[in-house]
Amino acid sequence: MASSRILVIGGTGRLGRHLVTASLDAGHPTAVLVRRPATAGARADSPVKAKLIEELCDNGARLVYGDVNDHDILVAAIKNADVVICAVGHTTPHKLVENQIKIMEAIRDAGNVKLAEQMLEPARSILGAKLRVREALRASGIPHTIVCGYLVHGFLLPKAGNPEADGPPVTTATISGDGKQKAMFVDEKDMSAVTIKAEEDPRTVDKILYVQPPANLCSLNQLVSVLEKKIGRDLEKCYVPEEELAIKIEAASPFPLNFQLAIVHSALLPGVASCGQTAVRVEATELYPDMEYVTVEEYIDGLI
Ligand SMILES: NC(=O)c1ccc[n+]([C@@H]2O[C@H](COP(=O)([O-])OP(=O)(O)OC[C@H]3O[C@@H](n4cnc5c(N)ncnc54)[C@H](OP(=O)(O)O)[C@@H]3O)[C@@H](O)[C@H]2O)c1
Repeated sequence: MASSRILVIGGTGRLGRHLVTASLDAGHPTAVLVRRPATAGARADSPVKAKLIEELCDNGARLVYGDVNDHDILVAAIKNADVVICAVGHTTPHKLVENQIKIMEAIRDAGNVKLAEQMLEPARSILGAKLRVREALRASGIPHTIVCGYLVHGFLLPKAGNPEADGPPVTTATISGDGKQKAMFVDEKDMSAVTIKAEEDPRTVDKILYVQPPANLCSLNQLVSVLEKKIGRDLEKCYVPEEELAIKIEAASPFPLNFQLAIVHSALLPGVASCGQTAVRVEATELYPDMEYVTVEEYIDGLI
């Protein structure tokens, strides 16, 4: 059977770049839709982004310039794909829904492909928007898989769970809540590898595919102690109570800091997380039992 052709939208993003690599590694003809630097809202044409695009192309990805807002370009790109993987970022819940609906409309106009929506949980307002997108996706009849991890490694681990930090703590670790609540941390590469496996796996069609390796459950206290072990000394701990964190989120500068703090609030404080789902769920660790996942400790090992 010929390998399915994959189009990744959002391929220069934190998750998207790993999806492109995982798709190429699995031998799929892979295209990546990239916004031109001059496009409104696009990341500046930093040397980092230019280098990333060059690397993806050197590894065999086919570059398509376009924007989710360019319906004709989107349709043309989708016509050349069997599977569309969406890893598009968002600034507001409204934008999130709008982008995804545009992709669905283009898929419908292009023909019949499967959509893998590469979105993880949470932040309450964004979650509400994601649930609306999922309803629309189900109603559209487009065969799809929604891939859900939770927190990807690169988002919080390099800052020891504190979105306001510039990097790992040197003397004091700021810990939201009491630091005991565990959340699921999944490596971007593993999320991407699972997504690419799922795209040709009939067991995942029209389902939510969770990626929840039990060994990757980790609390902020555990995360800080992994760091302490790595740097060989104890850190002071500054605990931020829930009420203080909530006030901080209210007062935080606009997106993305308020969103990142809200994710910490929903994922790492007890009793706040919510991710009501009605769709049929399957679990990657059961579907692909031989797959190994990068643990929090391994990630920190490679970081410092
Ligand atoms: N990172 C996390 O920890 C995390 C956790 C949970 C869920 N997620 C979900 O994963 C998805 C991707 O997140 P991310 O962190 O990888 O995002 P990201 O790093 O902000 O990347 C966003 C990507 O989307 C592209 N993009 C944005 N608007 C576009 C448009 N109008 N047309 C075409 N491309 C557009 C960006 O292109 P430019 O380079 O041109 O800007 C970039 O490639 C989101 O749904 C997010 O909610 C992420």
